[in-house]
Amino acid sequence: MRLDLREQSRAYMPVLEAHPDLTESAVRTWHGRMVNEYASHRVFNELASQLQAAGLDAADVAKCREFAAEEKHHGVLCGAVVEALGGHAHAQLPEPPPFPAHSDVGPLEAALRNLLSISCLSETVAVSLIGAEREEMPEGPLRELLTEIYADECGHANFGWRLVGQLVPTLDAVAKQRLSAYLTVAFAHLEHHELGHLPLESQPPAHGVVLGLCSGAEARELFYATIESVIVPGLDALGLDGTGAWAGRQTVAAS
Ligand SMILES: [Fe+2]
Ligand SMILES: [Fe+2]
Repeated sequence: MRLDLREQSRAYMPVLEAHPDLTESAVRTWHGRMVNEYASHRVFNELASQLQAAGLDAADVAKCREFAAEEKHHGVLCGAVVEALGGHAHAQLPEPPPFPAHSDVGPLEAALRNLLSISCLSETVAVSLIGAEREEMPEGPLRELLTEIYADECGHANFGWRLVGQLVPTLDAVAKQRLSAYLTVAFAHLEHHELGHLPLESQPPAHGVVLGLCSGAEARELFYATIESVIVPGLDALGLDGTGAWAGRQTVAAS
């Protein structure tokens, strides 16, 4: 699918300091984010339908649909940075992977698997990485734009942790075991996906933080710290085996 956000993005262009030495990698970084953010709206739409099928509150289903709109808007905001840097906010969107239906289990457990994977894993990592990038960024219009994205990502993560906190304790021991087994797969995919987006070769100069350019090695360190000190203990506290699932995560073949 062809994504063209140029017109929408131009309405949000932040005024940026000129850093010719950083422009090329900044355009690449924000263009990549634009694609990822925009594409993730589909995930929340699918999740909303799955939560509805599982009989969850209409308010929670509606919230999840709002998240889909927010992800589209994040795509527009990242596109605004691309345009402000002199790049072009359009791209060919890759064919999305099929949304996992998890039809081997009932609707609630299937929804919980995706809620764990999306909110408690991916979005929680996003909060951590974007939060760190924001901390390092000097005050200014780009930081304000990032703050808007960051606040939404916090909402996306908190939503999942709140719901799994209500729903996982209602499951029996066998279902919890099945969810823990699923987490070995979810962790493997998360690690594979995140490392792919955090290349070790990414070593921008120190002033790269003004345009949100971070060291790949430092971001990887933060990624692992987030899993080990936030996500795994959070899953363990729910009565799932987060520790065992992380230690026993499967390897995903490089694609
Ligand atoms: Fe987002
Ligand atoms: Fe998000």
